[in-house]
Amino acid sequence: MTPTEIRIVRGNITERPVDAIVNAANRTLLGGGGVDGAIHRAAGPELLVECRTLAGCETGHAKITKAHGIRQAKHVIHTVGPIFGKHHGAEAGLLASCYAESLQLAVAHGCKSIAFPSISTGAYGYPVEQASRIALTAIRDFVHANPGSLDLVEIVAFSEHDYKTYRQAQDEIFVDSAGNNA
Ligand code: APR
Repeated sequence: MTPTEIRIVRGNITERPVDAIVNAANRTLLGGGGVDGAIHRAAGPELLVECRTLAGCETGHAKITKAHGIRQAKHVIHTVGPIFGKHHGAEAGLLASCYAESLQLAVAHGCKSIAFPSISTGAYGYPVEQASRIALTAIRDFVHANPGSLDLVEIVAFSEHDYKTYRQAQDEIFVDSAGNNA
């Protein structure tokens, strides 16, 4: 069984050639700025029409739609990250849950590849040094518990600083017991 590839890339998530693109949404699921705005612009107005049928999404949870105008993808998975400092110390668990639930939804819908943005580290103020470790730990735990379920998990960094931070986190977290990169 080929292991799941975990890849940190730099770029625009709407252009990634994967089955599922993850959106860092808000609880209304009715669009916004940042990556939410970029995904809605790329997907077109039909995405909003579908999102209106979902009745929102709670923090830490995820919901799935079609990808509409984002032709190379099958689905958009909308997840709502925590706002740093606003969840009485529960932020880390809520952020980890965003990744875990998005991965579960992707697999449940037959996706073999998925791209995440750096959830909560923009408007929601989560320090990227902390968020990157939470993200990659959640991804590692999911792929170890579900071997072969996915071929590829990407994190798409929008800035050079974020790219380097996620790469450092990946080197720390994906190390096997012998100290080799796993
Ligand atoms: N591709 C990849 N990453 C992107 C893109 C893009 N096209 N545009 C922005 N980003 C990055 C940001 O640079 C940041 O690193 O996505 C990360 C998440 O930032 P936000 O989009 O601000 O998301 P978040 O911090 O989770 O805040 C969510 O912002 O846009 C609103 O509706 C959204 O209310 C919600 C809140």
